[in-house]
Amino acid sequence: MLYIGIDLGTSAVKLLLMDGEGKIHKIVSKEYPLYFPHPGWSEQNPKDWYEKTIEGMEELLSETDRAQVAGISFGGQMHGLVALDKEDKVIRPAILWNDGRTGKETDYLNEVIGKEKLSEYTANIAFAGFTAPKLLWMRENEPENFAKIAKIMLPKDYLAYCLSGVHCTDYSDASGMLLMDVKKKCWSRPMMEICGVKEEQLPKLYESYEAVGVLKPELAESMGLSDNVKIIAGAGDNAAAAVGTGTVGDGMCNISLGTSGTIFISSKTFGVDENNALHSFAHADGCYHLMGCMLSAASCNKWWSEEILKTKDFAAEQADIKNLGNNQVFYLPYLMGERSPHNDPKARGTFIGMTMDTTRADMTQAVLEGVAFGLRDSLEVARSLGVKIDRTKICGGGAKSPLWKKMIANIMNLKVDVIESEEGPGYGGAILAAVGCGEYGSVEEAAGKLVKVTDTVEPEEELVAKYEERYQKFRKIYPAVKALFQEG
Ligand code: XUL
Repeated sequence: MLYIGIDLGTSAVKLLLMDGEGKIHKIVSKEYPLYFPHPGWSEQNPKDWYEKTIEGMEELLSETDRAQVAGISFGGQMHGLVALDKEDKVIRPAILWNDGRTGKETDYLNEVIGKEKLSEYTANIAFAGFTAPKLLWMRENEPENFAKIAKIMLPKDYLAYCLSGVHCTDYSDASGMLLMDVKKKCWSRPMMEICGVKEEQLPKLYESYEAVGVLKPELAESMGLSDNVKIIAGAGDNAAAAVGTGTVGDGMCNISLGTSGTIFISSKTFGVDENNALHSFAHADGCYHLMGCMLSAASCNKWWSEEILKTKDFAAEQADIKNLGNNQVFYLPYLMGERSPHNDPKARGTFIGMTMDTTRADMTQAVLEGVAFGLRDSLEVARSLGVKIDRTKICGGGAKSPLWKKMIANIMNLKVDVIESEEGPGYGGAILAAVGCGEYGSVEEAAGKLVKVTDTVEPEEELVAKYEERYQKFRKIYPAVKALFQEG
């Protein structure tokens, strides 16, 4: 049988066709616009997601025996607020995970409701990109839109709704709404009250590998698919990526270098970082994970190369970087503010340390290193909790760069396992579809059988030592300039 994994990303939707043995038959990517209507705001049109998905599906299946397609599932950008009215029409553009407009609402939740209470209700505190502060923002700033809300959902759930007609979400993605009790896996009554929403406005919760329904008959007919294609709930993109890289079970780690940068640590049991610097979320395998999230990762390199250097040839730009561990230039990667561990929507990107002999290559190097240092910040939080990690998987567009993987290995002092395909969320989505259709007994079994490590980048002692020194300097920069960011 064949399975489709849909990775609903921030710059594009990627569709992946996989067979029951885990072989990838085809990948199709379709871009859509991202809107920044005000500095720090970030929005997209759910209609674009759906139209591009249907367009991509046609291309994906163009040379395939369509009768073999058994299931479709998702890995989706997390936290985005999609609000539907009573006719299931989208009320306003979706407010995305990297939108920083909710500083006031986030402060209200963390300071007036209080971090302890939030953590007790949900296992997390408020961050600007989370869904609950967006609801408070909408209630205050767009009361007419807020009054129209009949259903709230997350980005990939909007696709699942369009394909199946069912209002659903899964535990991993719902964890990032700050409306769910992560430990008990149910909607939190106190959080619903605080945000002014009722349970009937929230979608039904599923495990990521559970079927929510089947493809609508009219869509099955128009796409030439069987009338029994299962729609499987799917997961937030990081949990899906973790499945796609085999990061399931206890103490496994995955780093995703996409638009965002995340470090994801899987766990069989529920756990919370007592300072809530790391998110405590449900995993797509039925268990839990801790995660640190940087708002700008591969997007820093894209911005630097495309907007500033005016080139799309990332590899050529990196070819002159030879001086690992000795760069005097530092870069703070906070182009959209920062989530983990600083929780500061006002933080901004910064270069520091240039001299007259600083080269273009030094600046590019600083950008790549700055992202790796930022991920190290979250790793340090995990280490301070006693989590022992000495190796990680890696995925996302940035994982295509051998140089960046080497920097990650040495800056974080981790063995970096490279897997056959870096298509984390799409591959994970397809695996979830296969599990939901009964091809495998569990997510752990499927990931264990299908995900193959092809190479490992080992940290080098001398370079680790040089980078340790650089990191100790890097971590002093944000506290030194933080006050300037707050002035705006
Ligand atoms: C995770 C997060 C990002 C988005 C990116 O908390 O906000 O990784 O899911 O798509």
